[in-house]
Amino acid sequence: MVEPCTYVIFGATGNLSRLKLMPALYHLEAAGYLPEGTRIIAVGRRDWDQQQCIDEIRAWVTAKARDGIDDEVFEKFSSRLYYFKGDLTSPDSYKEMSKTLMGVEKFPPNIAFYMSIRPADFSTVIRNLSGVDLLNEDRGWRRVIVEKPFGYDLESATMLQKSMEKYLKEDQIYRIDHYLGKGTVQNVLVFRFANLLMEPLWNRNYIEHVQITHSESLGVGGRADYYDGAGALRDMIQSHLLQLMTMVAMEPPVSMEPEAIRDEKVKVLKSIRPIPQNAVHAHSFRAQYTGGMIDGEKVNGYLEEDKVPSDSVTETYAAVKLYVDNWRWAGVPFYLRTGKRLEKGQSAVSIKFKHPPQQLFRNTQIEVMRANWVLLGIQPTECLRMELSVKEPGLEMKTRITSLDASFRNEDEAPTDAYEDLLLDVIEGDSTLFLRYDEVEWAWRTVDPILKVWSTEREYINTYKAGTWGPTESRRLFDSETHYWRHSLEPEDNGKG
Ligand code: BG6
Repeated sequence: MVEPCTYVIFGATGNLSRLKLMPALYHLEAAGYLPEGTRIIAVGRRDWDQQQCIDEIRAWVTAKARDGIDDEVFEKFSSRLYYFKGDLTSPDSYKEMSKTLMGVEKFPPNIAFYMSIRPADFSTVIRNLSGVDLLNEDRGWRRVIVEKPFGYDLESATMLQKSMEKYLKEDQIYRIDHYLGKGTVQNVLVFRFANLLMEPLWNRNYIEHVQITHSESLGVGGRADYYDGAGALRDMIQSHLLQLMTMVAMEPPVSMEPEAIRDEKVKVLKSIRPIPQNAVHAHSFRAQYTGGMIDGEKVNGYLEEDKVPSDSVTETYAAVKLYVDNWRWAGVPFYLRTGKRLEKGQSAVSIKFKHPPQQLFRNTQIEVMRANWVLLGIQPTECLRMELSVKEPGLEMKTRITSLDASFRNEDEAPTDAYEDLLLDVIEGDSTLFLRYDEVEWAWRTVDPILKVWSTEREYINTYKAGTWGPTESRRLFDSETHYWRHSLEPEDNGKG
């Protein structure tokens, strides 16, 4: 039986809480997953009273509820809500919070603190919580959930970790990478380890290369103050895409215990070949969008976006080539790419297999056989497809590509949001889908050399037109002339082999 807890959300009046956290908690309520007695404390600086807090959250939930808001469910949900007005930097606020939490029976003693706040404030809040003894686990568990970015580079991540370690044990820290809460990302592990079929092929003997893509048609929106200091490499590759890569590349874990899985993931990160400074350009590419058309509408270039400095060279597109120097993957390039304002929003892992060793059909109309691909669609198309060549019906010896599609979801099965899964895991104490510090550290080690070189090259950045698939120059990363970016999850008929 899962015990009830008190969910304390710092930054509860902000965007993440509005768009993700409150709707996710509501959906958990609707599905009956919140243990009886669970309470939610929304911490914010705004001058709200209890009723205003409930009204605001009702509006957020209404905007996001999958099947429309259910009055009865919301009433139960709102009976768990409590607004706490507080200032993150004021020790008095924490004394008051401690009095509230400790003094009144109705707040369960197991407490999860969600840091939906600027990373710069993480340490302050944790120090203050510790100051009023709220991190002490004598009377129930205490867990702290931190959002990315965990640091800005290796050095700052190390400092942040040191400041947290003073007050928290590793098993109290839940570092979120919301990608891991996506069902299709978890499905990568199921696909690999619950089926024997692919395992003999899942290695350097049969796989030519792997592509991991996250593209967005949206621009930076109102997030330029964060994004301009981060850029695509930090924002997506250091975190989400490297995580996805570990799931594609890891060895089978000894069990499904959190540490067993995280041990294998970190081994992959440790095996990534370090990129020496003089090879950074051969392994990475960056660019920035200029104005263009998306869905028939004219959109601004990055430099025209609100709050972006006019001389910014922050990348909105990043691509890297990595090698995993281990027995399974030696010599297989992993191409990771991400970008904003690209032609289409899509995340996918595309795995290209080698050609058969002999071109047996060379003297027929087929001439060149196409290689097989396995395509794992993460979003919005959720799929697991295997592309095979088949003979075209008729008298001629011609082939076409057909795709075996193992759907992830039946039509009557509603999607859940990644945050639902993750918020529930915290209550249940399951840290499998959260990052252990060594994962964060090794992910920074992977991208740090690139960041260092890019930070010295402030004069120029390549550009691409919004609404395209990014700059063609990124092809320079490819190991072979025959490699190309796979944009589509549909069978291709482009003769590219
Ligand atoms: C966030 C990044 O972590 O992930 C955003 O900061 C990005 O820039 C987002 O848009 C993508 O996540 P999702 O779930 O919308 O694909």
